[in-house]
Amino acid sequence: MRVQGVLIGLYFYLIFPANIIGLWWAVGSPLVMDTNSICRKTRRLAGKQRAICRKEPEIVEEVAKGAKVALMECQYQFRTRKWNCTTLRRSLSKILRRDTREAAFVYAITAAGVVYAVTEACSMGRLLQCTCDNNLRDIATDGEWEWGGCGDNVDFGYQKSREFMDARRRKRRRGDVTTLVQLHNNEAGRQAVRKYMRKECKCHGLSGSCTLKTCWRKMPLFRDVGNRLKQKFDGGSKVISSNDGKYLIPEGDTIKPPSKEDLVYSEESPDFCRRNKKEGALGTRGRECDPTSMGVGGCDLLCCGRNYSKKQVTIKENCNCRFMWCCEVICETCQKIKTETRCL
Ligand SMILES: *[C@@H]1O[C@H](CO)[C@@H](O)[C@H](O)[C@H]1NC(C)=O
Ligand SMILES: *[C@@H]1O[C@H](CO)[C@@H](O)[C@H](O)[C@H]1NC(C)=O
Repeated sequence: MRVQGVLIGLYFYLIFPANIIGLWWAVGSPLVMDTNSICRKTRRLAGKQRAICRKEPEIVEEVAKGAKVALMECQYQFRTRKWNCTTLRRSLSKILRRDTREAAFVYAITAAGVVYAVTEACSMGRLLQCTCDNNLRDIATDGEWEWGGCGDNVDFGYQKSREFMDARRRKRRRGDVTTLVQLHNNEAGRQAVRKYMRKECKCHGLSGSCTLKTCWRKMPLFRDVGNRLKQKFDGGSKVISSNDGKYLIPEGDTIKPPSKEDLVYSEESPDFCRRNKKEGALGTRGRECDPTSMGVGGCDLLCCGRNYSKKQVTIKENCNCRFMWCCEVICETCQKIKTETRCL
């Protein structure tokens, strides 16, 4: 069996079935689309987005990649939760239409994914508009090391994410809580990348002796961005609009105002236990759960107190995978017997 893909895709192709490689997009009415559809829908896009589509299609390509990575991360973070970040259109489009915690996470991680993908494209030299970030070169260090290498140009990625993600929402109407909430969560997502840049260094010199050490700034791992936003999801702040409709204030006087990095929501989430078409909740019937766990992902919680069934199943999986230079993975198919527990 052959699994083909570019290096960066490798990991995803092995873990996720091909059918979810489709892409969601949250522009206008949120929809699930493929890369080309983003610009084909251009009449419905706001000015700035339309301009990017027309003049910088290569940026749109990176935007699409960013959204895809964000989707994968969302599904990873919520794999054992009642809401599992499913991309089924009948669910996601309804989730994104309300200002719940779940929508907050999706907006934030997507904006973060776009920062990430565009910045990475700059570092890889895929874009003409940007290069590595060399602005630190002239800044003095303690002498043990110096700035060099190719720094991630996160400011460019941040800027493009802002232009693209916030475009439609810029036209503020008085008291439009949805707009304020979405703009806030987009920014929280971008901050989760930009504020957590790391320093990466390399030693030069004969056989690893560190006579010269150069360092550059690199983005955090996207998994860390996902973890951080997941924490913000758990600690999200419920907000209401101020009297003049210009900014958000926490509901209840005692709660401290949300910071730029916090996720905010203004509507309570549906109960994801039961199917609810109107709210886009699919219910947890048929979800796989862990009978030995009392926490998240355990059958007690995931099945919402309903019983569960056990079944022996034979599964096929990729095994003995070898990575062939470049860029192909060749796997064998193995069979395994496993007990599957699913919510009734
Ligand atoms: C997510 O949950 C739905 C039902 O709640 C299920 O049909 C789907 O397979 C789940 N997706 C993943 C990736 O687990
Ligand atoms: C749950 O289902 C199992 C069979 O799968 C059954 O033996 C058990 O009695 C059920 N438990 C309850 C509380 O209904």
